[in-house]
Amino acid sequence: MTASLAPARAASNTLPILGPERPEDGRLVAGLIERAFGPGRYAKAAERLRERNAPLLDISFVAWSGVRLVGCVRMWPIHVGGTPAVFLGPFAVEPEFRSLGLGATLIRRACAAAGEAGHRLVLLVGDGAYFEPLGFTRVPPGRLVLPGPVDPARVLTLALQPGADRDLRGAVVAG
Ligand SMILES: CC(C)(COP(=O)(O)OP(=O)(O)OC[C@H]1O[C@@H](n2cnc3c(N)ncnc32)[C@H](O)[C@@H]1OP(=O)(O)O)[C@@H](O)C(=O)NCCC(=O)NCCS
Repeated sequence: MTASLAPARAASNTLPILGPERPEDGRLVAGLIERAFGPGRYAKAAERLRERNAPLLDISFVAWSGVRLVGCVRMWPIHVGGTPAVFLGPFAVEPEFRSLGLGATLIRRACAAAGEAGHRLVLLVGDGAYFEPLGFTRVPPGRLVLPGPVDPARVLTLALQPGADRDLRGAVVAG
């Protein structure tokens, strides 16, 4: 009998458990990111915002299926036009745990935690088709300058406080 090449689908009764990322999770997170994106596949602009920066672990989340880390989303301190904000990414889920809503749950959880921690705005570089249903909106082209080339249609924000995404202008920088 030929073994199926399709990845095994995670059973709904083994839905992963979320928790904040801990310092000791870094190696497993790096492995998941490497498998999901391959080496050097990040948008350069996003990587500029992460290098020489440190993730905000209290609002970065990982998903566990038993002892296996199967999902992650990281948040980073940035400034947008001189105002503090958080940058979201990378964001990945292991293939056999996809399309179960885990990705959306990670995004909602991290953004809710950011809001509770007092952050006002989340910015990311990603697909509107995925993130707009989660509440993110496009920044009008020409308003923000990221530290590298980026398709303006992929620059998305989520206001965590009313009006925090209004009239955004200026440089997006790490820290
Ligand atoms: C993006 C990712 C994290 C989503 O994880 P997930 O747990 O499957 O997410 P959800 O279950 O909430 O949503 C799944 C749905 O989103 C869709 N989707 C995934 N990536 C998408 C994208 N880039 N654009 C539009 N839709 C997308 C899937 O097709 C799926 O649709 P379906 O339910 O009709 O099958 C996962 O696909 C992944 O790790 N991809 C590789 C890394 C990556 O691209 N990260 C995002 C960078 S911005």
